[in-house]
Amino acid sequence: PTPFVIAIDGPSGSGKSSVSRAVASSVGGGYLDTGAMYRALTWRCLHDEVDLQDPEAISAAALSLPLEMGDDPSAPSVHVGGTDVAEAIRSSGISSRVSRVATVPAVRTEMQRRQRALIEDIAARRGTCVAEGRDITTVVAPDAPVRILLTASQEARLRRRSLEVHGASDEAAIAATRDQVVRRDQDDSTVSQFTVAADGVVAVDTSDLDFDGSVEAVLTVVRAAW
Ligand code: C5P
Repeated sequence: PTPFVIAIDGPSGSGKSSVSRAVASSVGGGYLDTGAMYRALTWRCLHDEVDLQDPEAISAAALSLPLEMGDDPSAPSVHVGGTDVAEAIRSSGISSRVSRVATVPAVRTEMQRRQRALIEDIAARRGTCVAEGRDITTVVAPDAPVRILLTASQEARLRRRSLEVHGASDEAAIAATRDQVVRRDQDDSTVSQFTVAADGVVAVDTSDLDFDGSVEAVLTVVRAAW
């Protein structure tokens, strides 16, 4: 069978990562989290004390980044120079700095090049690749047979992020999350327009769906194209 690519974009808190992984598992395919790649580069820059005000230094770090991405949707691994960074790249220190790294044009060119190669390789080996990020449907894999934009109201996204980060979704927890989510959305919006579906991209609004409902909604779009 022809290698099949499912591209999923969305803002933080849209449920993109967990839904994409469940979809990949359900179709028996591999998985690529492109946000984790920008996070891994940010981790490397902090580790090597690269000046984050210096785009050229960040670009040089991107070009030489010894990055290995696992493709197992049930345990997506991320290694930098042999070090397992899967947990470290989720820290708030990385979350608050990753947009700065990801908005350097030469960084994007390099990461997009790697992402295209990884998607092709995963799809060839596993039959299907589910790739998720901010610019997969538009720039990295615009020819993918399935392209989905996962959206959710800001309220729903804040509630989910708050549960994820603080284990609660009461008003105080949401207030603590708001700044991070809203600011990162603003910073990222200079990278690509990921809140409005591009031509041919199917928007799936998960505001009123639970996790299973979101997975089912995406699988419905996938089945229609299979
Ligand atoms: O998806 P996640 O929130 O982990 O992504 C982390 C960051 O990586 C985003 O805030 C954004 O700055 C960047 N990113 C990107 N392009 C992608 C995926 C992520 O610029 N395709």
